[in-house]
Amino acid sequence: MGIICNYLKPNYVLFAFIILISILQNYCFCITTQKHNNSSAGSRFSAAVATWYGDPNGAGSVGGACGYGFNVEKRPFSAMIAAGNANLFQSGMGCGACYQVKCRRSENPNCSGKAVTVTITDECGCDGQNVHFDLSGAAFGAMAKPGRAQALRNAGTFKVEYRRVRCNYPRTNLAFDIDKGSNPNYFACVVKYVNGDGDLSAVDLQTRNGNEWLPMQHSWGATWKVDLANGVKAPFSIRITTRRTNKTIVARHVIPADWQPGKSYQSLAN
Ligand SMILES: *[C@@H]1O[C@H](CO)[C@@H](O)[C@H](O)[C@H]1NC(C)=O
Ligand SMILES: *[C@@H]1O[C@H](CO)[C@@H](O)[C@H](O)[C@H]1NC(C)=O
Repeated sequence: MGIICNYLKPNYVLFAFIILISILQNYCFCITTQKHNNSSAGSRFSAAVATWYGDPNGAGSVGGACGYGFNVEKRPFSAMIAAGNANLFQSGMGCGACYQVKCRRSENPNCSGKAVTVTITDECGCDGQNVHFDLSGAAFGAMAKPGRAQALRNAGTFKVEYRRVRCNYPRTNLAFDIDKGSNPNYFACVVKYVNGDGDLSAVDLQTRNGNEWLPMQHSWGATWKVDLANGVKAPFSIRITTRRTNKTIVARHVIPADWQPGKSYQSLAN
């Protein structure tokens, strides 16, 4: 017995030591992973360039290349929008993504240093820089100290910092604007006011008399399209997959049996 115990003792110590090491290793691993995740989630600000366009207090262009229409002036965008260069707009796949943008006082004394949150609703052909936000006059002015909005807009362009953030549209339903060219054999719609990621990687449609989800193709801006076989029936359900976190949201029967081109339909699924 004594021999066995003496023989085992060092092994217990060694065993405990190994456990301790592996706990420590896991602990460090967790911290490292989290740090990495956080930075890839855009918690740090990166450098970009900002300009502004449209009316000084307006929403940039009327509408915009994402196809959200006149709505960009109204809630929930409330003119806080930006046209993105190719790295942000991403041929329309970047439509709906939200960013915080801020300018430092050291860059311009009229900057407040506070970040404004904007949604990408338009494309800008401003590709001299890696990341370029062409902000609405309203959003650009909102980066200024109180009473200095116009003075800041007069500066026209400067360096800013930006980071990706989750979109948050309070009291706003997920909306589907049916493209005017839609008909019984072709269905296209703009998807807007997506909380969270904001941008989409996939959109699928399910008809009343079909079980499978039909993948819709990205058409342009925030518009997705699909050809419909003869005899398919509405209501349609639409499933969206967000681009960054892969979250799926199903808007069941959101497109009613009597849907019409040009109309907008809403879902509480957001
Ligand atoms: C800041 O705003 C003031 C007016 O409020 C203006 O005179 C000044 O030129 C502005 N500074 C810069 C760097 O644009
Ligand atoms: C997103 O989901 C799809 C389907 O479930 C999967 O194949 C893909 O790997 C996922 N991507 C990410 C980034 O999680």
